[in-house]
Amino acid sequence: MAIQLTRVEEFALITLDRPEALNALSFALIRDMARVLDEVAQSDARALLIIGAGQKAFCAGADIKELTGRSLMEQKRGAELGQATFGKIERLPVPSVAIINGYAFGGGLEMALACTFRIATRNAKMGLPEIKLGLIPGYGGTQRLPRAVGEARAMEMILTGRTIDAEEAYRIGLVQRVVDGDPIAQAVVFAREFSGYSLPVLGLAREAVSRALTVPLNEGLRVEADLSTLAFQTKDAVEGMSAFTEKRNPRFTDE
Ligand code: CAA
Repeated sequence: MAIQLTRVEEFALITLDRPEALNALSFALIRDMARVLDEVAQSDARALLIIGAGQKAFCAGADIKELTGRSLMEQKRGAELGQATFGKIERLPVPSVAIINGYAFGGGLEMALACTFRIATRNAKMGLPEIKLGLIPGYGGTQRLPRAVGEARAMEMILTGRTIDAEEAYRIGLVQRVVDGDPIAQAVVFAREFSGYSLPVLGLAREAVSRALTVPLNEGLRVEADLSTLAFQTKDAVEGMSAFTEKRNPRFTDE
C-alpha cells in the first residue's frame, strides 16, 4: 500500500508513501486512502493528521503519468473518485490537519484543502499548476480554494498556476501555522489546541461554519440556531458550564 495508517499519541496519522514519485496520487493510492479513511472514522482517534513520506513533498498531485491517454469517461470517473475520497476527509467525525511538509501541488493541495486545517513547514511550496498541463483542478480545488482564500486569490492561483511559499500561504489564510522542527510533533501541538474539547460539539461547530459559505445568511443563521441548541443539550455543555461556575477545569466525555 502507498498509504500507511499509524497512531501518534491520541491521533491517527496517514502517511502518503510514494516518495519516489513525490507521493503523487495514483488511483491505487486514492482507493487505499478511501479504505483507510473508513478505518479512521471507526477508530477512537481524536483527530487525523496527514503527511507525505520523505523530505521533499507532501504530495505532487495526481499521477500525471497515469492521467495521460485516458478517455473522457475514465477521466470523469477519476475526478469523481478523487472528489469522493477527499469528501470522506471532510465528513470524518474528527477534525483533520494536513501537514504540508514540502511540495503540495494540484491534487496534493486539493487533499490538504479537504482537511479542516493546514500547517506548513517553512520550505513548503503550494499551488494548483493544472493550467500549465492544459488542465484545471478536478479534485475539489476550484470549489474549496475560493472558500479558503476568497475568489480573487483563488482565481489568480488557478489561472496563473503560480507557486506560493509557506509565508504567503499563511498570510492569505491558506495555512493556519508555519512550523519549524519535527512537523509531526508540531502537528500534535497544533491539534491539541482543539482536540481536548467535546468531539460532538466540535462536530457541530464544523458543520455550522462549513454552511457559512454555502447557504444564504438567513438560512445559515437558522442552521446556527438549531446546531447551537443541539450543542446546549449535550452532557458536555452541562459539564462545561458547571466547571466554569465551580471555577475548575471541565472533564468532557464526548456525550
Ligand atoms: N505525477 C507523477 N509523477 C510525478 C509527479 C506527478 N504529479 N510529480 C513528480 N513526479 C515524479 C517525477 O516524474 C520524478 O520521477 P522520475 O524520477 O521517475 O522521473 C519524481 O517524481 C521526482 O520528481 P522531479 O524530478 O520532477 O522533482 P523536482 O524536485 O525536480 O520537481 C516538482 C518537483 C516541482 C513538484 C515537479 O515534480 C512537478 O512539477 N511535479 C508535477 C506537479 C503538478 O503539476 N501537479 C499537478 C498534477 S495534475 C492534478 O493534480 C490534477 C488534479 O486536479 C487532480
